[in-house]
Amino acid sequence: MFRVTTEIININKDNPENDKIHKAAMILKNGGTVAFPTETVYGLGANALDSAAIEGIFKAKGRPQDNPLIIHIADINQIDNLVENVPVKARKLMERFWPGPLTMIFNKNKNVPHIVTGGLSTVAIRIPNHKIATELIKAADLPIAAPSANISGKPSPTHVNHVIEDLYGKINMIIDGGMTGIGVESTVLDVSCNIPTILRPGGVTREDILEIFPKVEYDLALKSNEKIVIPKSPGQKYTHYSPKAKLIIFEGNIDNVSNQINVRAEKYLDEGMKVGIMATEQTKDKYQGCVLVLGDRQKPKTIAANLFRTLREFDKMSVDIILAESISKEGIGEAIMNRMKKAADENIVVNGGG
Ligand code: TXA
Ligand code: MG
Repeated sequence: MFRVTTEIININKDNPENDKIHKAAMILKNGGTVAFPTETVYGLGANALDSAAIEGIFKAKGRPQDNPLIIHIADINQIDNLVENVPVKARKLMERFWPGPLTMIFNKNKNVPHIVTGGLSTVAIRIPNHKIATELIKAADLPIAAPSANISGKPSPTHVNHVIEDLYGKINMIIDGGMTGIGVESTVLDVSCNIPTILRPGGVTREDILEIFPKVEYDLALKSNEKIVIPKSPGQKYTHYSPKAKLIIFEGNIDNVSNQINVRAEKYLDEGMKVGIMATEQTKDKYQGCVLVLGDRQKPKTIAANLFRTLREFDKMSVDIILAESISKEGIGEAIMNRMKKAADENIVVNGGG
C-alpha cells in the first residue's frame, strides 16, 4: 500500500490567508494532490494539464479510469484554453449560474489529457462558488481537475473529517474550510445537443435552468429504472454514495411510509439486526431506536446539506440496515432522491396510497 505524508491545513473560508493558499497552490503546481472545499462537496484537486498528477487522483480514490473528472476554473477566460468552442447556450448559462453548482459539458481541445476525460472527446467544466476554491485555482494559475474527495463509491464529503477518514495518507494536503453548503454535487448539464440535457441532477435545479430555456430534458438513464440504458455521464453507472449497511427507501403517502417503516424495523430487529431509520423533522417522533433526522421536509435544502453526513453517521453506528423515507422530487429534491436511490442500489418499497 502506498503512503504519502498528508498535511492538514485550516483556512478561513471568508478571508483565505494568502500564505496558506500559496502553500497549497505550490503543491498543485508541482504535480501534487490537494483536497479543498467547494460550495457543494469537498473536491480532490490536481493540475488538469498534467497526466501524472491526475493519475494521483485516480489512485488515491480508487476511481475507475473511465469515469471522467470535472475541471474547475476561477475565471471564464480560462475556458478558452480547454475547449473547442463555447456554444451560445452555454454562455447564457455561465452568465446566470457561474460561479455555482452547474457543470457543463464541452468538446475538449488537445490541451486536455485523455486521462481527465476518461477517453471521451468532451470535458466537464465549472467555476465553484467558494472563496478557498477560487483563490486556490487563481494562485496555482492552472485549471484544476477535481472529483469529490471520497474513496470511490462512498458518500461525498461535506466535512473535512470525511476527507480525512477516506484520504489521509493518500494525498499531499487537505484544506479544512468547514462544512460545505449545498451538500449534493453540481448539476451536470450537456449543452451540446438542441435541448439542454441534465446528466446528473444537482445544486442548480431543472426549474432554475427553465428560467433561461423553455425546455430542459433529463438523460434517459435518469428517467428509467432499467439498468440497460447507458447513462451519458459515466459516473452515473457506478454504485455510489454507499453506506456499509443496506439501504431501503420507502415511497408513498408519508403516514403509510412511517407505518411501513415501523413494521419493517420490528421484523429486522426480531431477526437480530441493528436497524437505522432516516427520518425528517416532521416524522422523527414516530420512530424508536437509531433514528437520525435528515432535515425539514418544508426546507429540502436542509436535507441536501445533511444527506451524505447522515449516511456516514449510520456507518459509525454500525447499523445493518437503514430504512429511509423518500422525499418530494421537486427542486433540489430531484438531486437528493438521485443520490438516495444510488445509495440504495434502487432498493425501493413503493408503498401505495399516493
Ligand atoms: O459538485 C461537484 O461537481 C463536485 C465538486 C468537487 O466540484 N465534484 C464532483 O465530481 O462531484 P465527481 O467526479 O464526483 O463527479 C463528476 C461527474 C461524474 O458523474 C462524471 O461521470 C461526470 O461528472 N462527467 C465528467 N466529465 C464528463 C463528460 N465529459 N461527459 C459526461 N459526464 C461527465
Ligand atoms: Mg463523486
